[in-house]
Amino acid sequence: MKEKIKSLLKKRNAVMLSHNYQPPEIQDLADLCGDSLELSIKASQTDAEVIVFCGVHFMAETASILSPDKTVLLPRKDAGCPMADMIEPEGLQVMIDKLPWMPVVTYVNSSAAVKAISTICCTSANAVDIVGSLDADEVIMTPDRNLALYTASKTKKKVHTWDGYCPTHDRLHPEDVHNAKRAHPEAVFMAHPECRSEVLDLADVICSTSGMIRYAKESKSTSFIVGTEIGLIHPLKKANPGKKFYPASSKMMCKNMKKISLEDVARSLELMAGEVKVPENIRKPAFQAVQKMVELSLAVNKSA
Ligand code: 13P
Ligand code: SF4
Repeated sequence: MKEKIKSLLKKRNAVMLSHNYQPPEIQDLADLCGDSLELSIKASQTDAEVIVFCGVHFMAETASILSPDKTVLLPRKDAGCPMADMIEPEGLQVMIDKLPWMPVVTYVNSSAAVKAISTICCTSANAVDIVGSLDADEVIMTPDRNLALYTASKTKKKVHTWDGYCPTHDRLHPEDVHNAKRAHPEAVFMAHPECRSEVLDLADVICSTSGMIRYAKESKSTSFIVGTEIGLIHPLKKANPGKKFYPASSKMMCKNMKKISLEDVARSLELMAGEVKVPENIRKPAFQAVQKMVELSLAVNKSA
């Protein structure tokens, strides 16, 4: 199956992108494995004609927003994101109309239609920089209330939150973390900003999935409790042989991130099936919001 996919990737002039939560065999075959920000940047810069996106629907949509001339394939149409489904453009518009004007910062974990009425997007890797860069004292942040509260704690801005959340991260409670710390008292606790604030209060470090991989590599510590979706354990171990990684809770499994198999990837490339395309009237305003985020992140990285 792996050889078949490799030859199909060549034949279609395709690039295979994988999120850090995907099954190990998908991550290991992908041209690039990363967090939402790295994948968005790669999708905006690739020369390939086809992007086969191993992740969830909003990720493939973001790639299509950034690269409208490319064919973006999502090998399983039913791989969605429950948090992205917690907000619709009509509801967001009601919130916008009720408040005085202020920028709307939308997490990429949202539909293209929601991005289209937003000022700028963010990911978990850049939310604090993005909100901090805005020339406004107040912002609306959607749809993740946990990421919004975390960002508010790191900036001086007043943040108006939407009541969305990631069920996989919101499921982690302080008791789970205390149990994991009791079992591994020497371990550093890394948490994703999609976790509840009571959980983030217990964290030694808070960052995106790729941020955790970098942190574990650079850290002198040799054991870590991982407060994010359990798929991240695979790239953490791969990048850090000899270090130990323990899930903060075995409950942190996103079933949408586990839907794509190697067979699905091969079928999608063979039949050019599962195309995700955003209509131009939505893509154009959504592009503004996503592109602003990509440009700002590249500029911050350059000056870092
Ligand atoms: P990041 O990889 O950007 O940290 O995203 C986490 C996530 O939940 C993606 O669905
Ligand atoms: Fe959505 Fe959470 Fe799954 Fe990521 S881990 S795709 S935010 S439900």
